[in-house]
Amino acid sequence: EEETAELSREVRALAAERDAVILAHNYQVPEVQAVADFVGDSLALSRQAAAARADVIAFCGVHFMAETASVLSPDKTVLIPDLEAGCSLSDSVTANELRNWKSRHPGAVVVMYVNTSAEVKAETDYCCTSSNAVQVVEHVYREHGPDTEILFGPDVWLGSYVERVTGRRMHVWPGECHVHAGITAADVVRARTAHPDAELLIHPECASLDAVVESAGGGEPVSHGIHVLSTGGMLNRVREHPDREYVVATETGMLDPLTRAAPRARLVAANERAVCKYMKMITLPKLRDSLREGRFEVRVPPAVAERARTPIERMVEIG
Ligand code: 13P
Ligand code: SF4
Repeated sequence: EEETAELSREVRALAAERDAVILAHNYQVPEVQAVADFVGDSLALSRQAAAARADVIAFCGVHFMAETASVLSPDKTVLIPDLEAGCSLSDSVTANELRNWKSRHPGAVVVMYVNTSAEVKAETDYCCTSSNAVQVVEHVYREHGPDTEILFGPDVWLGSYVERVTGRRMHVWPGECHVHAGITAADVVRARTAHPDAELLIHPECASLDAVVESAGGGEPVSHGIHVLSTGGMLNRVREHPDREYVVATETGMLDPLTRAAPRARLVAANERAVCKYMKMITLPKLRDSLREGRFEVRVPPAVAERARTPIERMVEIG
């Protein structure tokens, strides 16, 4: 406790000294969220990074997020407290694989989830996050015509969710996030059976979404109290209905910000073991060292950043 308070003071003092803004994703450990200037989902953090006026952005999240911040703010120093904080979803597609895929579908429009490397983004037309994937794809159909071929990746489950909502088929890359894919339909159904009055807040990266909707009777998820939301969307939902009970199907770190947003809400994790080890690599001591030593700087080669900027800027503008 005392140690945490002391470390937090050190972090805040160093941030002031270095003119650093601290951005933290919703899955970060609570003590890191507590010292951050902004906490949010991927889209909100990208917007903060683009708008940041500080010299330094200390990014408490995973590597692709820090890269995205660097592309949006090339004149700023972007630091990540641990370079090993990667993402299994982002690792599921390489720039070479994407180039090969594109060569098999000439003329297709490429929409990639923000959970990708800057090199993959450099081969991409539009990026999206879980909170604006549907709007981005609808925008592409409006701009390029309803018969446009779309290559969507790398998350197969987000892709199938977008297909369900838009009613159109895309080519979808077969990647997944090991954390969200590990939340099975059996987990979700068990939690819902134990908490029959609870709403289900489920992240679109979850492999179980289709099966859960089918087992509830099919049709529109909302008609069964199922809300498919980004982490930021989940926070908005519990703020709107702070007295309800919720089953939460996403990374379990999410229960902390949800509890803070709605202290009276009853929150149950669909699967207690859904923990992203990469997100948890960022700790207060590492954040302190990062600010003190100016490490680890995340830089995107200018030629890559130049090409990655357009799809990221489109993502930040839409939705
Ligand atoms: P959002 O916070 O945008 O919902 O993203 C979830 C995620 O898995 C980020 O890695
Ligand atoms: Fe990547 Fe999944 Fe971790 Fe998000 S939860 S950072 S998608 S591995």
